Amino acid sequence: MPLLADWLLRHSVVMCLLLHSLVLMTFCFHHAATSCSKSCYCSQSEVGGKTVRCSNLRLTEIPQDIPNDTRRLYLDFNLLTTVPTNAFLELPLLNELDLSHNELVQLEPGAFRGLGGSLQFLDLSSNRLMTLNPEAFEGLQSRANLTHNPWHCDCNLQNVMPQVDLEPTSLAGIVCQTSEPEDVGAQGTPFLLAKDLDLCVVLKKTTDVAMLVTMFGWFTMVISYLVYYVRHNQEDARRHLEYLKSLPSKQGKSEESSTISTVV
Ligand SMILES: *[C@@H]1O[C@H](CO)[C@@H](O)[C@H](O)[C@H]1NC(C)=O
Ligand SMILES: *[C@@H]1O[C@H](CO)[C@@H](O)[C@H](O)[C@H]1NC(C)=O
Repeated sequence: MPLLADWLLRHSVVMCLLLHSLVLMTFCFHHAATSCSKSCYCSQSEVGGKTVRCSNLRLTEIPQDIPNDTRRLYLDFNLLTTVPTNAFLELPLLNELDLSHNELVQLEPGAFRGLGGSLQFLDLSSNRLMTLNPEAFEGLQSRANLTHNPWHCDCNLQNVMPQVDLEPTSLAGIVCQTSEPEDVGAQGTPFLLAKDLDLCVVLKKTTDVAMLVTMFGWFTMVISYLVYYVRHNQEDARRHLEYLKSLPSKQGKSEESSTISTVV
């Protein structure tokens, strides 16, 4: 009997240890599966992969601890003012990125670097973007929502537009709130429609005027120099003549007449 009890006791200890480690392991695996950014809410679905929601948290910076297997990231309704370079470089599976309803005034060069192969939808609507930085969108061909931003349509925007590879229909979301020049009637119209207004024509005109002024300046200088040169020479010639006149020789006279003919 004591032998059996001993056996039971020993085995229960082993069983207990086994159970204990099993619980620990489960806990660890569970933790790994739900590893998430501190401030955000994560969910995982079999088909769609990981979704991370950081909406409406008054964030002024993009959290650095977003899991690298995130497929959808919601950063909308925060206080972000810029998207720094390489902000999402560690998220190679990111499919959808929502940055709408923030205070974004600019996107730094390479802001979406690394997302070229995976990103399908980028929401930048309802921000404070006035102009496009083509270097921010390098390698990005996704669909984008660019509406509800105070776009400033000018020669610069016209020049950078062809360098942006975003899906072309996305660019229709760029509706001019202000324009340069002001009086071309671009305000309130999508930039793609206002494009044939040629916002660079005014710049060309000012360049032309500058050219004209410069040329006029040069011209004036040349004329003044010519006038000065002729006057100066006339004076010299007159002095020379007077000198010759004061010489009472015959040779001087003939020289005098030849000088006169040269001057004339
Ligand atoms: C995420 O990071 C881990 C550890 O650094 C790495 O093993 C894993 O392959 C990464 N996942 C992706 C999708 O890049
Ligand atoms: C773009 O964003 C605006 C405002 O955030 C929203 O009303 C609109 O439905 C969005 N459009 C698309 C195509 O997602």
